[in-house]
Amino acid sequence: MTGGHLQIVVCAAGPAADVTQLITTAMQQSWTTAVTATPSALEFIDMEAIERLTGHPVRSTYRSSPGARRSLPAADALIIAPATYNSVNKITLGIADNYAMTTVAELIGRRVPTVVVPFVNAALAARAPFQRAVADLRAERVRVLLGTDDGWEPHPPGSGNSRQKAFPWATAFEAATRLAGEVPAGRTDRS
Ligand SMILES: Cc1cc2nc3c(=O)[nH]c(=O)nc-3n(C[C@H](O)[C@H](O)[C@H](O)COP(=O)(O)O)c2cc1C
Repeated sequence: MTGGHLQIVVCAAGPAADVTQLITTAMQQSWTTAVTATPSALEFIDMEAIERLTGHPVRSTYRSSPGARRSLPAADALIIAPATYNSVNKITLGIADNYAMTTVAELIGRRVPTVVVPFVNAALAARAPFQRAVADLRAERVRVLLGTDDGWEPHPPGSGNSRQKAFPWATAFEAATRLAGEVPAGRTDRS
């Protein structure tokens, strides 16, 4: 699919600092983007740089500036990246305790093509709740980029900083556009 609107949700892990790579990749393919951050992720991102690139305010709360649109943008695809252990587990359970999680819950519910790219260490990834969460998301037709087949594995504990630069932004975008291209005609998730 060429062109569309990509909603990006960033969580509080190191690669959030590099989300401009995803925005730039999307822009090169004629997609528009907007970024929503979890409250904790605000510490990790350069909000001004993101807003300059996307032309949209970074949203993290229900409050918006006077006159700004309050409704969700009409998204053709959703990428949650980096997705923390915390947020992956919450998304699967349907927990909507902040604006980002509410956005994600609604967009997945609307069947908007969704890609999740976790950034977790192997100890967290080994936990039963996380493994169940990944399996449940996949059962819900969410594309979770994780595992040997996806070329993206959890990193050894303590090695997150050195792994950050390898974060698969381009692969995430390709997966999202592929999913968006597979959406049957007549889907009505733009209301
Ligand atoms: C410097 C720093 C780096 C972190 N890196 C990660 C990480 O790579 N993966 C992860 O799942 N959590 C990481 N955390 C923990 C999350 O930030 C924490 O669980 C937070 O509550 C997640 O919030 P969120 O899921 O709402 O964004 C990190 C925390 C800090 C302070």
